[in-house]
Amino acid sequence: MFQQLSRLSPDAILGLMAKYRADPSTSKVDLGVGVFRDLSGNTPVLACVRRAEQAVLAAQTTKSYVAAAGREEFNSAVEEMVLGGAHVARRDRRTRTVQAPGGCGALRVGAELIRAAAPAVSVHVSDPTWGNHIPLLGSSGLRLDRYPYYDAAKHELRFDAMLERLDRAAEGDVVLIHGCCHNPTGADLDPAQWQALAQLLTRRRLIPFLDIAYQGFAVDLDQDAAGVRLVAEQVPEALIAVSFSKNLGLYRERVGALIIIGENESRADAMLSHVLQIARGIYSMPPDHGAAIATHIFANPALKEEWLRELAAMRTRIDDMRELLATELRRTTGGADFDFIRKQRGMFSLLGVSTQVVERLRDKHHIYMLSDSRMNLAGVMPHNAGYVAEAVAAERLA
Ligand code: LMR
Repeated sequence: MFQQLSRLSPDAILGLMAKYRADPSTSKVDLGVGVFRDLSGNTPVLACVRRAEQAVLAAQTTKSYVAAAGREEFNSAVEEMVLGGAHVARRDRRTRTVQAPGGCGALRVGAELIRAAAPAVSVHVSDPTWGNHIPLLGSSGLRLDRYPYYDAAKHELRFDAMLERLDRAAEGDVVLIHGCCHNPTGADLDPAQWQALAQLLTRRRLIPFLDIAYQGFAVDLDQDAAGVRLVAEQVPEALIAVSFSKNLGLYRERVGALIIIGENESRADAMLSHVLQIARGIYSMPPDHGAAIATHIFANPALKEEWLRELAAMRTRIDDMRELLATELRRTTGGADFDFIRKQRGMFSLLGVSTQVVERLRDKHHIYMLSDSRMNLAGVMPHNAGYVAEAVAAERLA
């Protein structure tokens, strides 16, 4: 049977990660996979996570199952963090939340829910979007379409083109929207643009599927969720995929959630029943360890304070590297072409160079970024920023 299967190439991000690891060069620079790195290049276990993990292990008396939807306290803390304490959809009891194995698990379950409800709809994703959005949503059999989002040559949003395209989407179609720190561009909507988008979604009866994987990496937890909250206030139905891989550094523990918003309480209950059945058919129940740690942090004011400080430190480190790399690129190129890096947010920016330049940066200079020139700014360090900027200046026009 399996003789028919030909060998596939690895996922672009995971394949690049393996290539970087195999490169013996001592000057190699990893701007590939989106994980935070401290100044020594490590992706640390946060101190609040270490403390919470010890408390969780000390208090644990069983490894028996929790529940199909995961931990209730986790789910309600996540809802509050993403939607805020006084959100109208919560007040009207139209929200339901289930724990999921990472943001990926939430996206996949959400896609299956959409397919169960309306198999013929299209899901519109931004051009460009995170590479894994395509298999996560597409494998459920849904048709995917793209809306213009970003002009990599001009380093700016294509907001008018985005609205114009979405205005032509069929009623009931789904629009995948990055909540903040757009991956791969680092370019987010401003408040007026969020408002215009929310109005269009409402007027055209489109269903937002909001993906928030970097909450806290742009400004802070509340401001980074402002767009998500606004959209969720105005539309009758929405899905929200949440990830704690980055902001709690719990990557391998797979901690995420799917928030569903129905048009009324009973629709929300019906949606939840499908979500639970879908999850049961894929992974049965979400893993508990990381969610137990997160729950402990959310419920403990001192640990939560510590987390917010650590989150702010991660954000500041990346912002500092944006500043430093843009300054170094000014020095090495003699122009302002890369100043846009300063004003973008979150882990990523698109350098805006060709695939050939990306390959030369990798093969000649051991600098690894995705082929569309997506850089993880957390891979930039004070000791390598000048090296990266010199290599970019040497190669970008060659
Ligand atoms: C990324 O975009 O690099 C991260 O979200 C890691 C991943 O799984 O792709």
